[in-house]
Amino acid sequence: MTAPQGVLPLNFRKLDFAARRAALERVYGAGACGLGGMEEAAENRVDLMVEAAVGSLPLPLGLATGFLIDGSSYDLPLATEEASVIAAATYAAQLIRSEGGFSTWASDPVMRAQVFLEGVSPGGELELRGRGAEIGKELEILLGSMRLRGGGYRGLELERVSETGLLRVSILVDVRDAMGANVLNGAAEGMAGSLERLSGGSRLMCILSNDARDRRAGARFEIPAGRLRRGAFSGEEAARRIELASLLAQSDPERAVTHNKGVMNGITALALATGNDTRALEAAVHYWAGRGGSYRGVTTFRRVGEALEGTIELPLALGTVGGSVGLQPAAALSLRILRGPDGRGLCRIAAALGLAQNFAALFALVTEGIQSGHMRLHGRKGGSGE
Ligand code: MEV
Repeated sequence: MTAPQGVLPLNFRKLDFAARRAALERVYGAGACGLGGMEEAAENRVDLMVEAAVGSLPLPLGLATGFLIDGSSYDLPLATEEASVIAAATYAAQLIRSEGGFSTWASDPVMRAQVFLEGVSPGGELELRGRGAEIGKELEILLGSMRLRGGGYRGLELERVSETGLLRVSILVDVRDAMGANVLNGAAEGMAGSLERLSGGSRLMCILSNDARDRRAGARFEIPAGRLRRGAFSGEEAARRIELASLLAQSDPERAVTHNKGVMNGITALALATGNDTRALEAAVHYWAGRGGSYRGVTTFRRVGEALEGTIELPLALGTVGGSVGLQPAAALSLRILRGPDGRGLCRIAAALGLAQNFAALFALVTEGIQSGHMRLHGRKGGSGE
């Protein structure tokens, strides 16, 4: 296959280390931002990032090539210790690209800042409810710089947390391209005084919620079942088995947790490569997977006529500015390789990646098995694997 313009060759994975670095330099001018910066002792940087720093932990950074997402080609930077993750994503991406690639979507990046108030009487709660417009105005001022970027205040929700008697005040904020922790925590703390005054209560705590249910993204692809022939399995049989594996992850939480771990193999590696908060991301995804009281897979596969359709929908709190994104040369390089997406763009890419990763895992699991299928892909010894 010939390489699409402006991205790495599709056989990138098979080049040796030096040739891969040369290709990266050629296509992305990586030296400028750059590979040197990624590997320097970085003493000053780690000292800025955490307390009591003594060094940093090297983690492999690789590229999953050949993704076709909404008509554009991408190479995806992934930081992971697990052998086979990059190979599996690349394998799925290249199979799916030949059938039209992924289509994706992302909602506005709305997150929640929360103030938990103690000792609010029913009258105080009523008073707060009646002052929504006033509170909104104050928030608009507090979130001025976010507003200038097209984000800002999006609404207020009040709910009594019954077992505790606490009143939870959720401030909804469109955080644009930021992951949002700083702006959300600032909004919660900045508003607490007014909320106390209006309600007659007192704050227990002010903090963002990592529940990112309003900040979701999704992806979809379709592939003719005939393309899925593997080993002794016809394509149609492989498609049937992948559909059944998908149903299993909707019905059995014990299987779903492993299914979703596979989805996050790729997404967390992308989050790490781009300097995002992987714990926040994962907490939100698993909370979402358990909504409605039963933990389920976040992807689905079903046969549609002669084809297999894969879909994914999940919350993704990924930013492209702020936090440690700007502090790490490797994150800057990763965003450059992704051609500088905004926050929603990065979430759309991550959704496609999660779906590809899960598809590769299921395809291997229900045909040759993980050891001889999925694990074979990385073709090297010494990785952590499973
Ligand atoms: C291994 O890291 C991920 C898998 O276990 C995912 C799955 O079982 O779907 C292969």
